[in-house]
Amino acid sequence: MADGPMTEPFAVGIERLRTEALAALGSIGDTTALEAWRIHYLGKGGLVTEELKRIGGLPPAERPAAGQVINDLKRVLNEALDVARATLEAAAQEVAAAREAVDVTLPGRGVDIGVAHPLSEAMARIEAIFVELGFTVASGPEIEDEFHNFEALNIPAHHPARAMHDTFYLDSGRLLRTHTSTVQIRYMEHHKPPFRIIAPGRVYRSDAPDPTHSPVFHQIEGLAVGPELTMGHLKSVLKTFLQAFFERQLALRLRPSYFPFTEPSAEVDISCLLCGGSGCRVCKNTGWIEVLGCGLVHPAVLARVGIDAEALGGFAFGMGVERLVMLRDGVPDVRLFYENDLRFLKGIGTCA
Ligand code: FA5
Ligand code: MG
Repeated sequence: MADGPMTEPFAVGIERLRTEALAALGSIGDTTALEAWRIHYLGKGGLVTEELKRIGGLPPAERPAAGQVINDLKRVLNEALDVARATLEAAAQEVAAAREAVDVTLPGRGVDIGVAHPLSEAMARIEAIFVELGFTVASGPEIEDEFHNFEALNIPAHHPARAMHDTFYLDSGRLLRTHTSTVQIRYMEHHKPPFRIIAPGRVYRSDAPDPTHSPVFHQIEGLAVGPELTMGHLKSVLKTFLQAFFERQLALRLRPSYFPFTEPSAEVDISCLLCGGSGCRVCKNTGWIEVLGCGLVHPAVLARVGIDAEALGGFAFGMGVERLVMLRDGVPDVRLFYENDLRFLKGIGTCA
């Protein structure tokens, strides 16, 4: 407060203005209100300017002191304004920082990475192994006729071997193929030997689902036709394939069997993957596990597609993909492949 003589009402008025302005400032919570406050008190038409104008009406002797009082008021209010503005800006920054803050202690959101289905992965691997052995990949339709599924494969109507395949028949008189051996016929109808192919695909049988049977499953067919092909060639190809697939040395055993479309026919056993042949629960104490069926292509099958069975011969094999993966990965139930339980699919699926 300036010294000197001054009319009481002017100084009192200034003091009241100062008290009122500072009180108003104290209750301001945002920058818009702050700017309104500044205009109200310190703006060109504001209350402080009003007071300044009144100085001219004072007696000349009082004017310097009054001017001093007003200047003090202006300085005090401007300083208070600066402090209030800084406080508001700091608070706003804190709010923004809190909004953008990353809580590094929160658990992350997992990213689900897809994997190939275990069967897709296995089929791709099996194909790759056979392609390296010089086989090409062929395919055929899943909806078939009796000729390609049975007759051409030496299984005429009423032949007891039809009972080996519990067949889904369609209204059209056609059927869902019960094995990939159909592709042997379809391929030989259109290609001249020599050739060696594999045919991977889905097949269907009206089998009651159980741990080793699914009504839909996958097979991989193999067929080679050329001069002088023997059981020795067949066994060598199968041994090479099985050791590559299971990634270990294996003993192989060809057990005489029966398929109408091969002669001789055999089922292939491998030394048990679990016990190595000494006998265990998995191999039922035999030391051996059956993995596929095979044989030399029956001359009647070659003759039916116009191949000279005197000059040429062939071998064929067919295996269940689910059963191979079950053996390799210790999968206890074939139905797991079809239930889409991610825990199972992620557990054994790998990126192909
Ligand atoms: C056949 O299907 C013959 N076509 C295989 C063949 C081809 C023999 C060429 C000779 C020459 P089989 O019916 O045994 O054979 O079936 C072959 C394999 O399919 C079986 O060893 C088994 O691994 C698998 N399999 C059969 N039925 C089912 C089923 N319901 N669920 C899952 N896998 C099955
Ligand atoms: Mg069988």
